[in-house]
Amino acid sequence: MSANALADDATVVARILDHIDEKSTDRGEITWREPIENYRCERRYAAEIELMRRTATPFCPSAALPQPGAWLARIAAGTPLLAVRDADNEVHVFRNACRHRGTQLAEGSGCAKAFVCRYHGWTYGLDGELRHVPHEHGFPGLDRSARGLVPVQALEVDGLVYVTQSAAPGAPPPRLAPLATPGWRMLGAGEMEIAANWKILAEGFLEGYHIRTTHAATFYPLQYDNLNVVERFGRNSRIAFPYRNVNKLRAQQPAERSADGVLTYVYHLFPNAMVATFPGRVFVVAIEPVAIDRTRLVTYVLTDHEESDTDAQAALSQGADLVARGGAEDQEMACAIQRSLASGANQFFEFGLFESAIGHFHASLHAALAGTA
Ligand code: FES
Ligand SMILES: [Fe+2]
Repeated sequence: MSANALADDATVVARILDHIDEKSTDRGEITWREPIENYRCERRYAAEIELMRRTATPFCPSAALPQPGAWLARIAAGTPLLAVRDADNEVHVFRNACRHRGTQLAEGSGCAKAFVCRYHGWTYGLDGELRHVPHEHGFPGLDRSARGLVPVQALEVDGLVYVTQSAAPGAPPPRLAPLATPGWRMLGAGEMEIAANWKILAEGFLEGYHIRTTHAATFYPLQYDNLNVVERFGRNSRIAFPYRNVNKLRAQQPAERSADGVLTYVYHLFPNAMVATFPGRVFVVAIEPVAIDRTRLVTYVLTDHEESDTDAQAALSQGADLVARGGAEDQEMACAIQRSLASGANQFFEFGLFESAIGHFHASLHAALAGTA
């Protein structure tokens, strides 16, 4: 990705300090008009799900599978999947279904030596192999080697486990620095369903033009409104949202400035995942379509703080509360947009020069669906 390499922290901070001085922000070259029909058309929606299935998308952080035997089940692009780390530390992802009569093998997360189907006890190894069939003589000619769990392509890169559900090899996942560091551990995970199209929820992560009005009592006291550095890498984007304390870095040598504690980076991993950095924490969010007008947000929270560090823990829980309240404000806006779709007021939504990461998202989506990217 050399042509698309992301700037280093010092460069991003310098751009932010310039924007503060100039009362400016990064601007795209064009506005983007997205037809309302694209949020309402079932055929478009089905094509988007197919695109997610043939794209390498983050399934969970590596830290969600911390040791051999650790497993995690969830639905990705409508498909129930089961990720597991085997005895050799390799991650496999399988379709979450027993090969006898289809009972789902696992729900939630846990740690196991093998998967035993709770219906009739067919037993699978961590590598997916069918190891044991009770009273196997009832299945004459059963070829156990052909009845292991059905794998999907899995790849562990930079602290994330990616899955590609279609058989054809897709584009490799983007390289991503923040989770690459060893030592990050899971702080928690959660799922919630929101009554809005998945693209509306994605859009809410990708601009800082709404900080003052939507997040008046949550993020705005700590963050700049409409002041962002927006970068693209391939079909993906990174948006930097500076905190007001970024000004303390003016006293430091430009080359020594770090982004830690002075800004949030939101990485949009095309098409439907976000990685957001906060002080001491990283959020990995999968934006999972459930229906054309319903979306499940699957969130994993990671930290690099020690469990024994109680001061850090207190600060983390305070910060988590703020992020949750800010997130609820974004979800409320998404639902309000969804409810307006039937109003007939708009033929298109217009994303302005400050919302260029959203324009890039839609342009990439159009190209991918048209088969030109
Ligand atoms: S459905 Fe799993 S053992 Fe029968
Ligand atoms: Fe927001």
